[in-house]
Formats: sequence, structure tokens, C-alpha cells
Amino acid sequence: MPLGTTLDLPLAYPIHIERGALAALGTLVAQWAPAHRYAIISDATVSALHGKRMLSTFPHERTHCITIAPGEQEKSRERWAQLTDALFAWGAGRDTTIVAVGGGVVGDLAGFVAATFMRGIPIVQVPTTLLAMVDASVGGKTGVDTSAGKNLVGAFHDPRAVLIDPDVLETLPPNVLRSGLAEMIKHGIVADRAYFDAMVRELDTVNRDGASAPALPSLIAGSVRIKAAVVAYDAREGGIRHVLNFGHTIAHAIERELHYTILHGEAVAIGMVLEARIALRLGLASEDVTRDIEHAVQCAGLPSTFPRDCSLTATAILQATRGDKKARGGAVRYALPKVIGEMETADGHYAVAVPDAVVLDVLRHELHKSAP
Ligand SMILES: NC(=O)c1ccc[n+]([C@@H]2O[C@H](COP(=O)([O-])OP(=O)(O)OC[C@H]3O[C@@H](n4cnc5c(N)ncnc54)[C@H](O)[C@@H]3O)[C@@H](O)[C@H]2O)c1
Ligand SMILES: [Zn+2]
Repeated sequence: MPLGTTLDLPLAYPIHIERGALAALGTLVAQWAPAHRYAIISDATVSALHGKRMLSTFPHERTHCITIAPGEQEKSRERWAQLTDALFAWGAGRDTTIVAVGGGVVGDLAGFVAATFMRGIPIVQVPTTLLAMVDASVGGKTGVDTSAGKNLVGAFHDPRAVLIDPDVLETLPPNVLRSGLAEMIKHGIVADRAYFDAMVRELDTVNRDGASAPALPSLIAGSVRIKAAVVAYDAREGGIRHVLNFGHTIAHAIERELHYTILHGEAVAIGMVLEARIALRLGLASEDVTRDIEHAVQCAGLPSTFPRDCSLTATAILQATRGDKKARGGAVRYALPKVIGEMETADGHYAVAVPDAVVLDVLRHELHKSAP
């Protein structure tokens, strides 16, 4: 991929990928969302690593930087209120552009601030984790968590632009980088066999070289293209957007049961393998599909089964899937693959109701394998 590519996507806003582009952030933001004032929202880790370089590219007297602590617990209504108050105290108004520089937590929180501040002001998303680059920053979903669950209060608010600088991933811990690979593998499975194969071919190199792997920018671009195509087709989750839930029904249950001690991408990796097994058990997918997914996950250095000696039980996981947003009318609905690159449709919806007995059977079989 040539240096500095603005992707041609079916979205109302540009997504620009360029190594080293953070060093020109202020200039780029001024092109995409010119404003009287710029409010940069970031977290302490990202800010310490990349803040100085990035901040120097903004007009000093018209720019304000607000830093939150890192971590999911910051994605709260309390922090939303604090940020909003801080913006008013600084004198921000409708002539302000917000610039979110961070992972999905910063993107979702700052996005929700932008969606609601004076009924909506422009935001430019600058994702700094792989997960945020290929997933959270594309699609306009913003929001915060509540004690009733994750992402339950929010709004759709498209950014004016998304800037992806793959070089910022150099400072990301390797396990967090790998966690993002799970979503990219998922994109291939749900929509594009050729992309899936290209991913698998490069996974060893990406795993070894991390952010400097030459193929990374084009793999990120491919993943963004898939996510953008899906969300553009189905902006409000009526149908096809469900395919993006592949692996996630079980992943969310595992995360909940393990009290979020496992990284999201790791849980998604296990979830994809198990949900492919469910598809196999239902006669929707062949054994090859499960094998290919398991292989991809392993090449990425991600777990393909439960951690050894874990305290999980099949019934607890099943129960936890019921709390998932996709459980409707008692039956838990799964997004399941037919082949790599194509998902199953049930009555025109990409969500298949799966009998509890099938889920329990697959879970028990897998837990038996990881027993001490
Ligand atoms: N809006 C959406 O459509 C959407 C989609 C998927 C996920 N999400 C949300 O995204 C969030 C998860 O995002 P995440 O995985 O990016 O987590 P995160 O934002 O918590 O970032 C993970 C960790 O990496 C650190 N970090 C970020 N960039 C770094 C860098 N370049 N170098 C070193 N450290 C860095 C952060 O400080 C943090 O500690 C969740 O809240 C999830 O709900 C939203
Ligand atoms: Zn996910």
C-alpha cells in the first residue's frame, strides 16, 4: 500500500492510513474539521508516549488537552460529565473540534462527549490500538458503560475523519496487539475469504515483527474496508451488522465469567472457534471451517481453547450468554459461518437461534479438553 492512503469507502467520512502521520495531526485535523478551538482527549498512557509530538502540531493557544486514566472503568457517565464540564470551563462551544487519541475506551467516551456536547460537535478519531483502528473507530457507535452492562448508554455519531498511524502500535504491548488481530480474522471469516487467506499468510510475520511488519497497513486497510462495508449497508444494526457478532456471544460470556481478566481479543478467538463448532454441530458449516479458524487463531498467537484449570462451567457460560443483547424471546441467537467469507442467514437475518443442548454439548466437550 502506498504511503498515506485515504480509503475509498462507502462512508460519509474519510479514513486515512499513513505511517508517521501523527506528526502532522494538527494540520490534518484542520483540513478535515477546521475549528476555532481543538480539544484533544486522550488517556495517560497514550499521552505520555505520543502526546508531546502530537500536541506540538496544534495551535498552542487554541488547543486544550484533557487526559483520563487508562482503562475500561473510565468509560462511565461520571467521566462523561466531568469531560463535558471541563470543556465548558475551558470555554469550548460549537466552534470546537474534539480529537480523540487513544484506544476504544477513549474513542467511545470522547465520541459520546462529542455526540452530546451542545447537541453534537465534530470529532476526529485517532485510534491507537489495533482493535480501535479496525473496529471501534469505524461505524459511529459511541457510548459509556453502566452498572447494567457495557455500552448501554450512547449515541451514533460519525467522526469527521479517522486517522490511522500504524507506527503508534510500536508502543503497544504484544498481547494487546494480538488481541486486535482476532477482530481482523473475524472480518475475513464473516465477509472475505481472500482477505482471510492474506491475513493467515502474514500472521507469523505480524506476530514476530509487530507494528513494523510491512503488511500491517494493508491488512488494517482490508479490515477497515470490511467493517465499513458492513456498517454502511446496515447503519443501525437491522440485519447484516449482526455478522460482526461472530465469536462474540460466547466471548462476552467468557469475559463476564472470568471477570474481565482475559483480553477481549483472546475471548473472541476462543469464541470464534467454539461458535464454528456450533455451526458444525448444526450442519451449517463443514469441518474445514472449524479447522481453518483454529489454525488462523493459533497463527496469531491467540488461544483457541479455554485456559487450563479455569473455573468455568458449561452451564455458567450458557447462562452468561443469556445476558447478551442478542438473546431474544428466550433463544440465544448466534452469528454463524457457512464457509469462510460467508455467514448463515436464518429467515433473512444473520442470527441463528441455537438450542441450549447444542451449546452445552460443544462447551462441555471443550472444557473436558482443558481440564487438568
Ligand atoms: N464503538 C465501537 O464500535 C466499538 C467496537 C469495538 C470495541 N469498542 C470498545 O473499545 C474498547 C476497547 O478498546 P481497546 O481494546 O482499544 O482498549 P483501551 O482503549 O482500553 O486500550 C487498551 C490499553 O492500551 C493502552 N494503549 C492504547 N494505545 C496505546 C499505544 N499506542 N501504545 C501503548 N499503549 C496504548 C491504553 O492506555 C489501554 O491501557 C471497549 O470499551 C469496547 O467496548 C467499541
Ligand atoms: Zn469485539
